[in-house]
Amino acid sequence: MIATAPPIVSVRDLSVLLGGRRGFLRKPVPPVAAVKEVSLDLREGEILALVGESGCGKTTLGRTILGLQRESAGEIQFDGAAVSGLRPDAARAARRDIQYVHQDAGAALDPWWSIGRTLAEGLVIRGVRNAAERRDRVAEMLAAVGLDPASARRYPHEFSGGQLRRVALARILLLRPRVLILDEPTSGLDMSVQATVLNLLLELRERFGLTYLFISHDLSVVARLSDRVAIMYLGRIVETGATKALFDRPAHPYTRILMAAAPRLAGRQAAEALPVRGDPPSPTAAPPGCAFLDRCPIGEPGCARRVPQLIAVGSEHRVACHLASRAANDWASYGVFAGQTAPVGAARHG
Ligand SMILES: Nc1ncnc2c1ncn2[C@@H]1O[C@H](COP(=O)(O)OP(=O)(O)OP(=O)(O)O)[C@@H](O)[C@H]1O
Ligand code: SF4
Ligand SMILES: [Mg+2]
Repeated sequence: MIATAPPIVSVRDLSVLLGGRRGFLRKPVPPVAAVKEVSLDLREGEILALVGESGCGKTTLGRTILGLQRESAGEIQFDGAAVSGLRPDAARAARRDIQYVHQDAGAALDPWWSIGRTLAEGLVIRGVRNAAERRDRVAEMLAAVGLDPASARRYPHEFSGGQLRRVALARILLLRPRVLILDEPTSGLDMSVQATVLNLLLELRERFGLTYLFISHDLSVVARLSDRVAIMYLGRIVETGATKALFDRPAHPYTRILMAAAPRLAGRQAAEALPVRGDPPSPTAAPPGCAFLDRCPIGEPGCARRVPQLIAVGSEHRVACHLASRAANDWASYGVFAGQTAPVGAARHG
């Protein structure tokens, strides 16, 4: 069903240049190409996971889709209509059905306001004038996120970290969004609390017919939760596919290294053997050709000649690596991956 669903958000050749001036003194800094020629579709009702190391551009991509950050090139469509190239206020207004849930969403709640008042405030802004209706809708939403409706009278400091994430979700859902950009929504929570928040997200998707762009670096969570995955490296999508296809037959060396390093993925232990050499290069000084070359265990000098483009290696499965077709069929011949033989297996589907 998901595979044929129409895209609700469509991104084409999107590039985002950040920089100019930063900090209190507005010191000039070299511009950073945080997102480079990214194309992706978010299909109605799906969970698309966006995965990659810190600094690879996940948040920037999410903020640009939201209209909080201006694109330098490319196009974004929401529900079939172009929403890019607009002035900042118009850009955000055109995308009010897309909402952002950031890493520590609960921390942004006003400590001096009761939860009920904070939640009702969003309804005031949306033009709900009747106080009784606001109270009912707040109580209903608190119940939907698994909190006692009576907790509307309580203040943020009276809630645990997991409960605050629920409150933050309730606040956003009262705005009746269709798409949520969830930026590491469980970071900083204990494992058991993380699991309950993730289950809640699955329930809420069903109940409210939501679509998620789920930003995460935890591949075991991604394997369990998402329908499709996009792997990002230094501003570019380097592999994308249906979760099962991608986890069964990862085709990009970077994806394989991420999978090998994910301790909880399919119950495997973290592999010590796979070398991911060094840190990612700075986005201000990305190397020519394939940006992963410096760290790639199978790279060849020829990889520096051209930036690899995404090509299909299966239905629903595309990869940007010059050696992908060879490597995908014959990982075992690469000594560095000898400990791993495809299929590696996906926790969610296995
Ligand atoms: N306001 C800014 N001005 C200049 N560069 C920025 C700015 N914000 C972020 N960057 C740079 O843009 C790149 C992408 O950052 P971004 O926050 O999108 O990455 P991320 O994948 O979300 O990382 P993380 O996993 O740490 O949240 C990084 O190199 C970052 O240093
Ligand atoms: S193009 Fe070359 S350097 Fe880049 S990931 Fe593929 S094999 Fe490695
Ligand atoms: Mg981020």
